[in-house]
Amino acid sequence: MNGKFHSIAIDGPAGAGKSTMARRVAKELGYQYVDTGAIYRTVGYHMWMMGIGPRDADGIRRLIDDVNVQIEYAHDGVQHMILNGHDVTDEIRTAQMAIYASGVSAQPVVREFLLDMQRELARQHNVVMDGRDIGTVVLPDADVKIFLTASDTVRARRRFLELQEKGEKTSFEQVLSDLRQRDKQDSTRAIAPLRCAHDAVTLDTSEQTVEESVAAMLAIIREKLG
Ligand code: DC
Repeated sequence: MNGKFHSIAIDGPAGAGKSTMARRVAKELGYQYVDTGAIYRTVGYHMWMMGIGPRDADGIRRLIDDVNVQIEYAHDGVQHMILNGHDVTDEIRTAQMAIYASGVSAQPVVREFLLDMQRELARQHNVVMDGRDIGTVVLPDADVKIFLTASDTVRARRRFLELQEKGEKTSFEQVLSDLRQRDKQDSTRAIAPLRCAHDAVTLDTSEQTVEESVAAMLAIIREKLG
């Protein structure tokens, strides 16, 4: 338990369906949905705009204090990311920003910078929070931890369709190769790597529809919360 509010931690690799499912689960429970990947993407976007590479540790350290990230929720519950007063919700959803987010998120200075912000959200609301290190680092005392996974080809297919829908020109092979690179980077970094918490329940969504995954997650949560 995390004080007087409940927290549900959803972790897993890119494209496992975390945001789709976590958003649905949050709505069902009446909890606040927090997409932490969007926060890292926002920091990545700032670095990109300032001409700093995703692995430029010195540049990132130099600029991190200029970054002001705020989260605002629209009336329909959509999480808007505000970077230094500008809404960058749409701009951060590109394949390039995914690579940037993965790069900057490996920098200790960035993780430290964002840790309090994420914990504060859980101190003030019932949350369903998704990311890579929520159950292991951000909210180690979360009431429920779920590790969502799926085969890399299924995950790449989902991501490819998503990007195609948004009109981004890319190929399935490119998406699969980016995803494998991101999996490797996210799970081998020295600080807060992607891994399943020892007390998390693993759910493989490869063969499931969104409805089936959401139902399975709600069953796990309701059983744990009693
Ligand atoms: O969930 P996403 O694809 O939007 O996340 C983008 C990147 O941000 C991901 O590749 C790794 C990083 N990330 C992280 O390191 N820790 C989190 N809690 C969430 C995302």
